[in-house]
Amino acid sequence: FEYPNAELQKELTGIANALIAPGKGILAIDEPPGTLGLRFAAVGAENTEDNRRKYRQLLFTTSPQLGKMISGVILFHNTVYQKADDGTPFVELITGQGIIPGIKVDKAFVPLMGSEGENTAQGLDDLAQRCAQYKKSGCHFAKWRSALKIGTNTPSYQAIIENANVLARYASICQMNGLVPIVEPDVLMDGEHDLERCQKVTETVLAFTYKALQDHHVFLEGTLLKTNMVTPGKSCTILVTPEEIAAATVTALSRTVPAAVPGVVFLSGGQSEEEATVNLNAINRCTAARKPWALSFSYGRALQASCRKAWAGKEENVQRAQVELLQRAAANSLASRGRYDP
Ligand code: 13P
Repeated sequence: FEYPNAELQKELTGIANALIAPGKGILAIDEPPGTLGLRFAAVGAENTEDNRRKYRQLLFTTSPQLGKMISGVILFHNTVYQKADDGTPFVELITGQGIIPGIKVDKAFVPLMGSEGENTAQGLDDLAQRCAQYKKSGCHFAKWRSALKIGTNTPSYQAIIENANVLARYASICQMNGLVPIVEPDVLMDGEHDLERCQKVTETVLAFTYKALQDHHVFLEGTLLKTNMVTPGKSCTILVTPEEIAAATVTALSRTVPAAVPGVVFLSGGQSEEEATVNLNAINRCTAARKPWALSFSYGRALQASCRKAWAGKEENVQRAQVELLQRAAANSLASRGRYDP
């Protein structure tokens, strides 16, 4: 088998380590136009191409401070090729702040036949060409998300093994093209299940994922894991503390994520902004199990919710919105070091 050659290994390791530099995490703003439209509707902003560009411009022009807390941004295809009002390409604006541009490369979810509503993601066929193009355009990492739903009989073996394999194929194609793959198996928060069930499912999903990465000779030092924290389902009535969430999360990761992986960056998955910060802080303070990896954030909703609400699609609110984003970034930066005081 062939690992990436020594030079490529060095490049991938450098990118991965920069993404998890102490006190830094990732801002996920890769919502496809439809998804962003739903979030715009919730704050009364109109979903036009130019409003989406203006909103991203707001984020990228927040403050030079942002680059001290945000290591990378995950973009949707269009954003890579858009420009600010003054003609500066977004990629240049981002890179100029010491932030690394990344790209979402998974495509639509398609149903798995015979499953109870489970799915897998499309996008492998032309992935090598797309990765090569994105690398030329200034992106240095990618993301692919798999979604696994906890139900009475799910996630099934079929969904777990298929999604693990597709993540491994994606990761290997990224690495061949100089992009660090962020491998994202997302065990969804929907459901009534308790903390223990989420922990067991998360452990199983991660174990399958790392077996598949090994089967496909993925160079783990040049990858990051993006996954869910272990929490009770959204409709579960048993309340748990951030410390319990932290212990379950760290235990699950320690049982399944190889020490060669440099970092785990959590998704927020529907947690509130404050919950996502407090839980990340508890995870970084937790001593329930060994933690050989950096533990940071790659939040979408939990970094943008207040910001988007403050903006509400209006030019006059841009600065207020930027203050909100900076506050969330600062709080999560502290939490990634276990130094957040609510
Ligand atoms: P959330 O933090 O809103 O879950 O989004 C992160 C992400 O990129 C999901 O793929």
